[in-house]
Amino acid sequence: MLQYVTLTIDGSRVRAAKGTSVLDAAIEYGICIPHLCHVPSLSDIGACRLCIVEHVRNGSSNVTTSCTLRVQEGMVIRTNTEKIVKLRRNIAELLVAEAPNSRAVQDIAVRCGVKEVRYPFRNNNCIQCGRCVRYCNQYWRANVLGFIGRGKDRHVDYPLGTRPDFCKNCGACTLYCPMSVTPCEGPMKRGEEHLCGKCESQLSMSASLPGACVRCDLGKGFQCARHA
Ligand code: FES
Repeated sequence: MLQYVTLTIDGSRVRAAKGTSVLDAAIEYGICIPHLCHVPSLSDIGACRLCIVEHVRNGSSNVTTSCTLRVQEGMVIRTNTEKIVKLRRNIAELLVAEAPNSRAVQDIAVRCGVKEVRYPFRNNNCIQCGRCVRYCNQYWRANVLGFIGRGKDRHVDYPLGTRPDFCKNCGACTLYCPMSVTPCEGPMKRGEEHLCGKCESQLSMSASLPGACVRCDLGKGFQCARHA
């Protein structure tokens, strides 16, 4: 039988089953915590760090990713403090610098209040969120993709660098990839990368309802939990 705990997120009492992540509990109650590497029903690896929150304990707090934090009885979570907003904005800015050609990343950056990108654009095709790897390995149990290498050489690839015969080409890795949808005006060439930031509807939504899930466009290209 499921056991439930009660916690507080941004001052609201939330009831969630034991074992649920704080991110899932928040989403269930319509509290928007920006997230990118989380895929409903797959394990979380805390890769993008966008879902950071403050976990308040004994008068002090620590910053942690809400997708990897399990709910506990009486826990107090703050998702939208000045500190979190600033840290999250910086993370989103770094992600845009890494992958300006991802509509999902650009949308999240807008939602997080990024106004400019102060870091050099790298224009990578992968932000190592691991969504494709986990979907392939955990959902299909195909183990066609994995993380190869370490440090700056770490990347997603087939085990021996070529697509194995047992890959059924289902395309789920592409479907779940935040790079699969480019910004509205199309891919940006090297040297011409910029913050898109033109999505007026998202800008006004984020300004008027900073902490609420407003069923924004973030789910369109890469399946936010709320829209899956
Ligand atoms: S969604 Fe939690 S770290 Fe990416």
